[in-house]
Amino acid sequence: MKLWAGRFSKEIDKKTNDFNSSISFDSRMYREDIEGSIAHATMIGECGIIEKSESEAIVKGLEEILADIDSGKLQIDPNAEDIHTFIEGELTKRLGQTGKRLHTARSRNDQVAVDIRLYLKKEVKNIEKMVKELVSVLCDKAEQYSSTVMPGYTHLQRAQPITFGHHLMAYVEMLLRDIDRLQCTYRHMDEMPLGSGALATTTYPIDRNITASLLGFDRVSQNSLDGVSDRDFCMELASTISIIMVHLSRFSEEIIMWCSWEFKFIELDDAFSTGSSIMPQKKNPDIAELVRGKSGRVFGDLMTLLTVMKGIALAYNKDMQEDKEAIFDAVDTVKMCLTAFTPMIETMKVIPENMRKAAANGFINATDCADYLVKKGLPFRDAYKATGTLVALCIEKGLTLETLPIEEYKKVCDTFDEGVYDAISLENCVNGRKVIGGPASANVISQVERVRNLIK
Ligand code: ARG
Repeated sequence: MKLWAGRFSKEIDKKTNDFNSSISFDSRMYREDIEGSIAHATMIGECGIIEKSESEAIVKGLEEILADIDSGKLQIDPNAEDIHTFIEGELTKRLGQTGKRLHTARSRNDQVAVDIRLYLKKEVKNIEKMVKELVSVLCDKAEQYSSTVMPGYTHLQRAQPITFGHHLMAYVEMLLRDIDRLQCTYRHMDEMPLGSGALATTTYPIDRNITASLLGFDRVSQNSLDGVSDRDFCMELASTISIIMVHLSRFSEEIIMWCSWEFKFIELDDAFSTGSSIMPQKKNPDIAELVRGKSGRVFGDLMTLLTVMKGIALAYNKDMQEDKEAIFDAVDTVKMCLTAFTPMIETMKVIPENMRKAAANGFINATDCADYLVKKGLPFRDAYKATGTLVALCIEKGLTLETLPIEEYKKVCDTFDEGVYDAISLENCVNGRKVIGGPASANVISQVERVRNLIK
């Protein structure tokens, strides 16, 4: 029987019931639904809206239902309309008349609004913790490879020498912003909507601050229409998660390139790679590819939420039931991705020799060669041109700037002397870039320190 049986003369059509029902996806909020109900029952008891004894019986009944669902003794009915209806129905089954008093001064509209906030607040903390774990793994790796020289790229062309530690710390910066966005999203959802009722609060003398403090909310919502119909925090969380996925996806792309034979900068651990069904030699970076691929579904979740919300007149409309699958999928997906991604990074084998080889062959110290002339008084444009001529000469002779004899240097520009070899050594190129934000080993080490303190 439906909650609205008094108004209706027929039961709902079976297939329509399935269409209307959200229990298959909102049952995961059973704990939060019960927590919300316990707080509400306590508050209406304290405010004298129902008898103290009835309030206590309801709280006890709800605690027992929670224990029974946790232990598996009570199965959630897949035919119920939603988790709120199921819990309330079960309470009434157990307590009779008293159970029917729980919904005094409340609506499912403010109930679902509080449940989803309670649920997501926990998940935001979980995701934040997982992102911090990845940051910490990256800091360890960056420290270990703080002086490992590799080519830095623009346009995927070798550009200037950097350190592997510096490259990894770039991802750390992105993840730190992600953490900040998660914390901001958390603050926005830390607002208690119960008491908004269906849309216009209630005439009962409720005390919303009691419910808010029982549930651990920072504050109560200040407008009842907004209280029941705000899903900004879902869109914000999906957007924050989408940006995390962009970062994981870019990183995955690099991992995939780095473990190709063309690069071979790293090798993934066997536990985080897969083989081929036909090609015995293959070792594939499936995990990184899947993370890159799964970013697509998360962006889809964000698009779902934005589109569901954009045309809804105030206040609650059933469209909003569509919020849950999308935000839950985004949350589940980013957690799954981080669960696989972090240990994949932690266990990857880095091959510094190959990074070094790649760094030695792309004339990535050409800028430093030009800068050497500038430091000796040449205008940069002239130094640039002379170095360009030298690079062309090296390519013609099959040499590098390191192996080109000094006489050849002098033929192009007589300002050159033996000191040039020191100036273009990759170590000096990297460690000379010690301004804030630079790739010098010492910088990497101090950045690692800074970040470790930040995430403590
Ligand atoms: N299952 C509904 C949802 O997720 C709960 C709120 C129902 N309220 C209503 N007026 N039908 O949005």
